[in-house]
Amino acid sequence: MNVFTISRYGEAMDALKEAQLAQSGYDEGAVIMADVLLVLHGAAHRARRLVELRVFRRDFFRYYEQQVFPATLAQTIGEYETLGQADLIEFSVRVTLNLTADFAGIDRPAGDSRETEHLRRLVATFSEGAILVHSTRDKEVVRSEVRAALAEFDATFYQPSLARRQALLRQFAAGQLGLEQLPRDVLTVLLQNADKVAMPAELMMREIAFYLQAGSHSTANATAHAFHDVSTWCAANPQDRARIGHDPLFLQRCVHESLRLHPASPVAQRRAVCPVALPDGRGAATDDRVVIDMSAANRDPGVFGVDAEHFNPHRVLPEGVTPWGLTFGVGAHTCLGRDLDGGVLPRADTDSAAHQYGIVPLLVQALLQRNARPDPARPATAAENTVRANWGSYPILLDTLARE
Ligand code: HEM
Repeated sequence: MNVFTISRYGEAMDALKEAQLAQSGYDEGAVIMADVLLVLHGAAHRARRLVELRVFRRDFFRYYEQQVFPATLAQTIGEYETLGQADLIEFSVRVTLNLTADFAGIDRPAGDSRETEHLRRLVATFSEGAILVHSTRDKEVVRSEVRAALAEFDATFYQPSLARRQALLRQFAAGQLGLEQLPRDVLTVLLQNADKVAMPAELMMREIAFYLQAGSHSTANATAHAFHDVSTWCAANPQDRARIGHDPLFLQRCVHESLRLHPASPVAQRRAVCPVALPDGRGAATDDRVVIDMSAANRDPGVFGVDAEHFNPHRVLPEGVTPWGLTFGVGAHTCLGRDLDGGVLPRADTDSAAHQYGIVPLLVQALLQRNARPDPARPATAAENTVRANWGSYPILLDTLARE
């Protein structure tokens, strides 16, 4: 079996779009990832993605960003405002966990921080399982932790959420409820479309667990990276710090630049399902592996310029290149949460008051509005147990938001 690595931007993009290359980055994490959307291929992937896509529409994102998210954010950030300090990773995970749970279809009946912490602990274990390929721990130990966490999740969160949705769907079928009264989440659409995408009960539970981890840790890591990059840039460029305060479109641009530099997964991995010509001209045989180096592609100087390694929100991009590069993937597996987290790209005539900014820019904005800054007494540390370049802990100080 040969392993080919692709690092140039254009070739990486073409490889991600190649239909004969199947997902293979999560083989080691099968304990949670077996047969979930991200690892499916071909017709089975298309059928399930089409059903789940119904939850991920721009009108719903805009509603969510403007109506639901501010309340979740205010509640969580309020607790830290009172303390005057926070761990950025913990804060972001707590906010985004509620968000991902809403999209996945997991109820939190208590609605308190103890319940969020319970879910956070379970989802942290799912994440470790999903990216087992990058783990530095004993993999069998991690697998048994994931099995235990799945069983606990099933009993405490999943079964009650499932039962509530099944009851609502029965009421809907009996004409006692309208469509708009049903929850808008992945679990509900899967139950509604069981004829199109039949899934064993255990797989449906893992699909929902996969959503929780896919959305929350990537968002939390992106928030920490973006806060760090923007703070560092603003310290050296005070005119941009002032601009960020009154130009949210510029802040969104800064976050996109940070997303480019820190793809959630540094590499995407694929397996040739048949002999295939790779975009760089090499030939891969069936079962050969292709490593698409997203980090390197996103720093390709031929596309992003000689300073591609550095954060520069004023970078001029070639026509058709997205400011976040390949960070949300492209092709069949393009991230379903892309517009939710990164927002919509502004156009020349965009109305900044009605624009959809994305959850990560809004989180960074909320932090900057509270004068959040790295805590000089407690330096940030890198994440352990993974070779991925993420922050493990990022202590910050913050003030109370000045309200008019
Ligand atoms: C900054 C945050 C995020 C980043 C950087 C990110 C990145 C990615 C990437 C790179 C992929 C494709 C992986 C591949 O091709 O191998 C992906 C897929 C996916 N993401 Fe995200 N993601 C983020 C947030 C979210 C959120 C918030 C959700 C859900 C609420 C989500 C749901 C998904 C799903 C369901 C897939 C699988 C799509 C498919 O296989 O068809 N992601 N994400």
